[in-house]
Amino acid sequence: MRVLITGAGGQVGSELVATFTASGHDVFAFDRTGLDVSSRDAVRAKVFELHPDAIVHPAAWTAVDACEADPDKAFLVNALATRFLSEAAMIVGASVFYVSTDYVFDGTKPTPYKEWDDVAPASVYGASKLAGERELPPGSTIIRTSWVCGANGGNMVKTILRLSRENETLSFVDDQRGHPTFADDLALMIKRLVEEQRTGTFHVTNQGAVSWYEFAREVLIASGQDPERVKPVATIDLQPPRPAPRPANSVLENAALRLSGIALLDDFRIPLARLVAQLSEN
Ligand SMILES: NC(=O)c1ccc[n+]([C@@H]2O[C@H](COP(=O)([O-])OP(=O)(O)OC[C@H]3O[C@@H](n4cnc5c(N)ncnc54)[C@H](OP(=O)(O)O)[C@@H]3O)[C@@H](O)[C@H]2O)c1
Repeated sequence: MRVLITGAGGQVGSELVATFTASGHDVFAFDRTGLDVSSRDAVRAKVFELHPDAIVHPAAWTAVDACEADPDKAFLVNALATRFLSEAAMIVGASVFYVSTDYVFDGTKPTPYKEWDDVAPASVYGASKLAGERELPPGSTIIRTSWVCGANGGNMVKTILRLSRENETLSFVDDQRGHPTFADDLALMIKRLVEEQRTGTFHVTNQGAVSWYEFAREVLIASGQDPERVKPVATIDLQPPRPAPRPANSVLENAALRLSGIALLDDFRIPLARLVAQLSEN
């Protein structure tokens, strides 16, 4: 297949490029300098030139707190840019695969979120990503994921390892829960959804729900350190408070995959061990 990938310089984008390329697809990958998706002219020129079968679209402004201070930029990059890609995709007959987020939910549900649950974003970032979902043409695919970590770019695994080198004790919140998800596993599932031309909304995460406190303990265990060095704190006690609210419950049930008979991604501890080993080699 001819696959156009946006945001190819990001955590998820870089793994998508590697995964699709390894499977022999014709990959047209662009980081922000190669294709600024917030330029309608640039999007149309690339899509009309390349005539992709699928557009995989992880590009986004992902700085959650910064989005609160600049909603116009958040809606331009995350929502309007998705409209530009959707318009162009419809003209050339390409399918759009949009990577979305747990932040479309407010996190107040006491149980995991299914694909069919009502959305209610509590942050500008979440609202702008939901607006992007709503720009997609019929027959598109929405892949909602959470707590992404990967070898490329900054993420919580790298942050926890750095803090463990710099401090005797580490504090992480124990009242926000989610499914940590590893970018290489996520990219493999997205490739499958593209190849099988699956449409609609899918929650795609690694399995195993934890709080950030529990996740930090798992990172220390995976790197051979004492997990008792991690101390739990409550979100309300974080100083200074962060501008954007985080969902207390970010746990996405992968119901659409499960009901489709597709094997879910591994427990997060498996790719976590792989990533920690990879980081320690570098
Ligand atoms: N990270 C998570 O925990 C998480 C959780 C749930 C969902 N997601 C979703 O997963 C997707 C990928 O996230 P990620 O973790 O890979 O984030 P990331 O590393 O920040 O990647 C996003 C990429 O988009 C690029 N980008 C920003 N503005 C752009 C523009 N105008 N045109 C083209 N590219 C642009 C960024 O380039 P620059 O760096 O050069 O600006 C960056 O390389 C996003 O859609 C995000 O909403 C992420």
